[in-house]
Amino acid sequence: MSADAHLPVLLHPAVDALEIASRSGGTFVDATFGRGGHSRLILERLGPHGRLIAIDRDPDAVRAAREIRDPRLVAVQARFSEFQAVLDELRAGGVDGVLFDLGVSSPQLDDPRRGFSFRFDAPLDMRMDPSQGASALDWLERADEAEIREVLSSYGEERFAKQIAKAIVAARRGGALRRTGELAAVVAAAVRTREPGQDPATRTFQAVRIYVNQELEELSLTLPQALAALRPLGRLAVISFHSLEDRIVKRFMREAARPAVPERLPLRARELPPPKLRIVGRPVRPGAAEIRSNPRARSAILRVAEKLAA
Ligand SMILES: C[S@@+](CC[C@H](N)C(=O)[O-])C[C@H]1O[C@@H](n2cnc3c(N)ncnc32)[C@H](O)[C@@H]1O
Repeated sequence: MSADAHLPVLLHPAVDALEIASRSGGTFVDATFGRGGHSRLILERLGPHGRLIAIDRDPDAVRAAREIRDPRLVAVQARFSEFQAVLDELRAGGVDGVLFDLGVSSPQLDDPRRGFSFRFDAPLDMRMDPSQGASALDWLERADEAEIREVLSSYGEERFAKQIAKAIVAARRGGALRRTGELAAVVAAAVRTREPGQDPATRTFQAVRIYVNQELEELSLTLPQALAALRPLGRLAVISFHSLEDRIVKRFMREAARPAVPERLPLRARELPPPKLRIVGRPVRPGAAEIRSNPRARSAILRVAEKLAA
């Protein structure tokens, strides 16, 4: 695979879930274009009058999307939390399916200049859109120890958050925390036990990345917008890669699949406001063959729901 390629995870199950064939003239949104693995299959299934809106906050991803010469595709550089604004700008009205394939892409991890990975020594950046917000370095330089500890513990589920936060603060005082290699070395020295098959810095890098990109907030802000934009029978398909994301998706779908809590009580059963979504099938995980050929798929989980008529 070339350094700029991304092997899509759960490609067919996710795109099948959108049921494009039954509304091939409809509008679909790929909220996480990456390198377009899912988008290309959506385009294959979309009819000549269909439309695909591809969103990514990463300028490299949007550049890759714009190289696809297809009049049915429009690529927008935006945070997906700007979902409704993007649709308004494009005068898109309702949509028939929305796909999220969360997290980072292989090109982001594999481009040493992006500073996402402890595998390459690079300036600590980790922003999906390097022109927006604070980099990992900006944040690690000014955060206090308690805040670092809290981020490592909640976003990395790191048992040694306390020791690592302390070591980070000590290292930055000495000016030795500007690069990914330095952060990885500080973590390795602070963590006493090793999880098998995992670099000791894995959890720290995950936590800092999630925090710097506000990944969980983005997701929580966007799911309600996607639901609101869906037409009746429209599909929402979300692939997550760790339990923090999946918990948000699962809760959101479950809540929306329950009758809304009535403002006036008591109500008779038939007076209850109807649910907004129907959960479709059971969560889908990649099979052994996919995990063998793409280890990144290991922790993936796909959840699908369908918008119910109002
Ligand atoms: C796992 S990759 C998607 C891969 C894609 N499905 C493919 O097959 O090539 C996730 C992509 O979502 C983008 N992304 C993550 N969070 C985002 C957000 N809040 N807003 C917009 N794009 C986001 C990342 O920049 C990354 O390119």
